[in-house]
Amino acid sequence: MTARAPANGKQVILGASFPGVNHHTVWGDPRAGSQIAIDSFVHLAKTAERGRFDFFFQAEGLRVREHKGRFYELDIAGRPHIAVVQAALAGVTRHLGFLATINTTFNEPYDLARQLATLNHLSDGRTGWNIVTTSDAFHGENFRRGGYLPRDERYERAAEFVRTALELWDSWPAESLGTAGGEFVTDPGAGRFAHRGKHFDIEGTFPIPTAPQRHPVLVQAGVSDEGREFAARTVDAIFSPFGEPGPGREFYADVKGRARRAGRDPDTLKILPGASFVLGDTPGEAAERAREVALAQVTPATALALLEQTWLRDLSDHDPDGPVPPVDADGVEVGISRGRTTSTGDPLEKAREWYAHAREYRLSIRELVIARAHRAAFAGTPLQVAQRINDAVQTDAADGFVIGSHLVPYGLDEFVDKVVPFLQEWGVLRTEYTTGATFRENLGLPPEAPGARPGVRPFDAAEFQPATAGAVG
Ligand SMILES: Cc1cc2nc3c(=O)[nH]c(=O)nc-3n(C[C@H](O)[C@H](O)[C@H](O)COP(=O)(O)O)c2cc1C
Repeated sequence: MTARAPANGKQVILGASFPGVNHHTVWGDPRAGSQIAIDSFVHLAKTAERGRFDFFFQAEGLRVREHKGRFYELDIAGRPHIAVVQAALAGVTRHLGFLATINTTFNEPYDLARQLATLNHLSDGRTGWNIVTTSDAFHGENFRRGGYLPRDERYERAAEFVRTALELWDSWPAESLGTAGGEFVTDPGAGRFAHRGKHFDIEGTFPIPTAPQRHPVLVQAGVSDEGREFAARTVDAIFSPFGEPGPGREFYADVKGRARRAGRDPDTLKILPGASFVLGDTPGEAAERAREVALAQVTPATALALLEQTWLRDLSDHDPDGPVPPVDADGVEVGISRGRTTSTGDPLEKAREWYAHAREYRLSIRELVIARAHRAAFAGTPLQVAQRINDAVQTDAADGFVIGSHLVPYGLDEFVDKVVPFLQEWGVLRTEYTTGATFRENLGLPPEAPGARPGVRPFDAAEFQPATAGAVG
């Protein structure tokens, strides 16, 4: 093993992603497991805990996506309710945190705060909530007539939602835990709440006394200016799509700066991009395996489907191994692809950028999709991958990564067996869980007190920078 002292010894935070729908996971591989059976979730969670990861992560999908009015096979991976899955996993792990992506647009604070407080108890303080604002009517039709929440109200509702949830979690005094001794509770106000706001006007009693770590670890995913501003004021970590060093560093500096301006210690806001990995015994072997994986991920049919979803029109008469057709704003079919969350801005912006790339490098459709529709991937020998992860963290492109594998749930084993030992040897990843018992303590975050998040206040559009568009990973 090659030891190398880390630049300043910042700890690398690691999450293990159990994927939902995407083309990165090769479910068709005979070595892949089930998308929904308990064994799959348990294996990934136990492997992550064996590798001393900080947390297990799941994204949320609220509706089966549609492409050209039909379901595309890649889009129908099982999408179980995350809180239910993670309750089961809390019972078979001791130290691993659990990060559940759950939206603030179609839920109610009382119900969701109750679910998360329950999980926080069941896991002894190992729960995290990845707050997303999923806004469109396509998803919303599942929940209410019309389904729509205007875009500019998403973060306003999210901010009030989180504030309300914090009020509910703080409605019991901490010492009320374990007092079921047959007496009246001394504090008659315990558990009582009243919240009066634009989006929620509720009062009553919250049925779950204060949980270990008090609040779930709060995380946010969403890259618009509004999303960044909300995150900088409110959450403990951001799940970001910027895994490459350049964009990663830019995003890192931007949101840490916003946190500082909001009066926070920027170290209390962790930046966690998603990334995948492909290993080989030599750099050449890793590159060859990465190519094989890419071809398995982007089959000819998937290449065309992903191009159609980006070009927003039918391209079925094109050869996936042939030239890339020009972007055609007049040919756009509204609704050709439904259920993908996108950020603000020109819907063809990404297509234009891809097209320029294809022309510059003379790529076929399939080559273009392989080149562009990727997430940041660490490909190399185990030592190289460990070095790149550590370098990204030590040079402030990230505070850690949410690691996904193209093979679920067994792909992570190789990472834990081969990459993790380097990080541990360099002292940037724990060898045992010793810093604390809760998810919050393992992330090195300060303890929470009632009302400890002064930044959680109603959205005020006037405080925001001019909006910029950003693609969603
Ligand atoms: C890295 C990342 C992960 C996301 N994960 C989810 C998810 O699991 N479920 C979901 O419904 N939306 C997810 N979203 C979408 C957000 O909910 C949001 O709708 C979208 O990013 C638009 O918000 P924005 O304009 O602030 O970027 C994710 C967004 C990002 C950037």
